[in-house]
Amino acid sequence: MNTTSDLEPVLIRKEGAVAVLTLNRPAALNALNHPLMDKMEAALDGFAQDDAVRCVVITGGPKAFAAGADIKEMENASAKAMAADPHLSRWDKLGRFPKPVIAAVSGYALGGGCEMTLACDLVVASETAVFGQPEIGIGVIPGAGGTVRLARLVGKHRALELVLTGRRFSAKEAFAMGLVSRLVPPESVLDEAMTLARAIAAMPPLAVRAAKEAVLKSLNSGLDDALAFERRRFYDLFDTQDQKEGMKAFVEKRKPVWTGK
Ligand code: CAA
Repeated sequence: MNTTSDLEPVLIRKEGAVAVLTLNRPAALNALNHPLMDKMEAALDGFAQDDAVRCVVITGGPKAFAAGADIKEMENASAKAMAADPHLSRWDKLGRFPKPVIAAVSGYALGGGCEMTLACDLVVASETAVFGQPEIGIGVIPGAGGTVRLARLVGKHRALELVLTGRRFSAKEAFAMGLVSRLVPPESVLDEAMTLARAIAAMPPLAVRAAKEAVLKSLNSGLDDALAFERRRFYDLFDTQDQKEGMKAFVEKRKPVWTGK
């Protein structure tokens, strides 16, 4: 039988053009410790370079997507030691990942787990999933984007209510606030996420990349800059083979064949 420390903290598999990362520390409810995040970062670095990977799905187990950063790892740390540790920057790196990332969430997505979903591009959640930023209750605040990305997505008042009370909230509430893109029965979470991932993976990759960049830019900059960026990316795509193919196929009433060029 495997003990907790024997388990690979992240399981990695590829299904066609979709790479799946499964967080795998069930005994610690997938608490996001250093070995887990090291492995995830290395896997994502590989997928970023691999043209055969067009979309990534991150999932957890039935009880927890992830119950946050590992409290046992940091309980005795000083401010200086925490600041010198690049651990939390991995959430930002995930947010900048060049290809679409879908979180497939069952069970708890708390603290750093919730922040991981905020850094993803789409979130498919089980109707029974539970979200929250409970850090206030252990004497800290969210440190991996849970004040920043949350406030941008749900607005100041709702973000502060959640961050100041640390209360858990249902997937239904998360969906109503725009934190979840698709709410599905528990047994369908991974299937729905894979269906979405395959649909995205079948799109022309340069346009997919440009679309993600433009939406992220719109969240990170002022309106004029974001509109100029979008227009530039739109124009750039006219120098790609896939744009010529896509428009030609439309005119010829056939399915396009993408080359990713
Ligand atoms: N870190 C370390 N271990 C954790 C953990 C975490 N974030 N969450 C759960 N665990 C461990 C528990 O300590 C327990 O281990 P033992 O069996 O060795 O005692 C095991 O996982 C199972 O947990 P529980 O017994 O607590 O399970 P439960 O069903 O009673 O409760 C829960 C589930 C409500 C999710 C509860 O575990 C919990 O509140 N977890 C902590 C949530 C949290 O505060 N997250 C924020 C972390 S800080 C952070 O994330 C900072 C940031 O911004 C990046």
